Amino acid sequence: MNAIMVEKTRALRGDVLIQGSKNAALPIMAACLLIDGVCTLTNVPQILDVDCMCHLLKLCGCKVERWDHTLTIDTTGLHCCPFPTEEVLQMRSSITLLGPLLSRCGRVEMSYPGGCVLGERPIDYHKSLLEQMGVCFWDTTDGFGASCDRLQGTYLCMPFPSVGATETAILAAVMAEGTTWLYGYAKEPEIKALCAFLRKAGANISEFGDTVLQIEGVNRLHPITWKIPSDRIVAGTYMCALAAVGGKVRLQKAPEKELEALLTKLSRMGVTISKDSLGLVLEHSGRLCGIPFLETGIYPGFPTDLQSTMLVVLTQCKGMSVVKEGIFSNRFHIVKYLKALGACIEQEENMAYVHGPTAFTGIPMKAEELRGGAALVLAALVAEGNSRIENISYIKRGYENLVSDLQGLGGRLWYAS
Ligand code: UD1
Repeated sequence: MNAIMVEKTRALRGDVLIQGSKNAALPIMAACLLIDGVCTLTNVPQILDVDCMCHLLKLCGCKVERWDHTLTIDTTGLHCCPFPTEEVLQMRSSITLLGPLLSRCGRVEMSYPGGCVLGERPIDYHKSLLEQMGVCFWDTTDGFGASCDRLQGTYLCMPFPSVGATETAILAAVMAEGTTWLYGYAKEPEIKALCAFLRKAGANISEFGDTVLQIEGVNRLHPITWKIPSDRIVAGTYMCALAAVGGKVRLQKAPEKELEALLTKLSRMGVTISKDSLGLVLEHSGRLCGIPFLETGIYPGFPTDLQSTMLVVLTQCKGMSVVKEGIFSNRFHIVKYLKALGACIEQEENMAYVHGPTAFTGIPMKAEELRGGAALVLAALVAEGNSRIENISYIKRGYENLVSDLQGLGGRLWYAS
């Protein structure tokens, strides 16, 4: 099944259980490489990026077993190997293997990581941090090589709080010789989850105020069992679905605190938000109001991963809304489809000006990246007639059950070949 068919849906009603977090699971899976023995991860989402990471771990000698949402990773047979380009290109998170492999094996060869095309996505911060810890890089025919003796703790100052580069620095520092001080690091919840996992495995990581992470290198980490937290972006996607379509939805296991930026905006726009013993309840009927200005930013700012789904919501709101993409240089791929559906949007560089509300009529569309793909499904739910969305493997990279979860809420959509 490589397409999703969607029909106009009048309201979403019911409960949805939020899956485990992709962006927490992937670096934690990479972190297991640092641990000699068998780690068990639970609540691991069944998504294509996790499949891809399992495959990469197997290529470097790990035994990976998976049943339902539990994963065991046995690193006893870990060895250094060049990774095939096509595997590494499948996702940005391939880069999280760099720190652990340098730490355990002292050498890595891989191509530059792939991932969603959201504009420039270099790895210069990752390289520079590792160079300061004693790593040498060289070019290979289809990527780069890196090697080191034991990684050296040092003072590291990040030019920008990149999520991936912070993960690389942490993963390199936990078993380095001496102490690493990491200034200007990213504070996203996935970083907190990675640190919590590593601490439980024996790493020595302390936060000083809001500015510096101190990581004291240890010689050994021990195997643990760990539960992956809920996915804030999946929860946010369903909140945007409710806001776009209307109705009443209860989100079970939604990480509410991590979604404050989105919840504040939705509440100002007119969505009623409450809590009961089972979860977070969002409700609205009628027209929401647009927002004068929304800018995506580093945590706790508005997540760039929810910019596309929010853009869909704004097309259905009264008045003009302005959206500025503050993280990636090219994250408005869906604008052309929204316009073809009937939206009134002007886009210039990293700004989008939305005039709403406008009625949508269904059209054929193609997902071009993960979060934008999910946003197209939301847009199709408000469109009269049928929409067909192709290239849905992008969506399956991060959403375990987008179609069945929305069906459970009354959404009129199904898989098609
Ligand atoms: C992670 C998330 C992604 C999210 C993003 C921002 C994962 C698997 N992905 O991506 O879903 O959208 O954080 O919250 O967790 N940059 C450089 N050089 C570098 C690294 C980054 O210039 O070496 C730039 C990027 O091009 C981008 C910005 O920094 O413009 C932010 O990127 P970063 O925070 O690193 O995002 P990712 O870790 O790739």
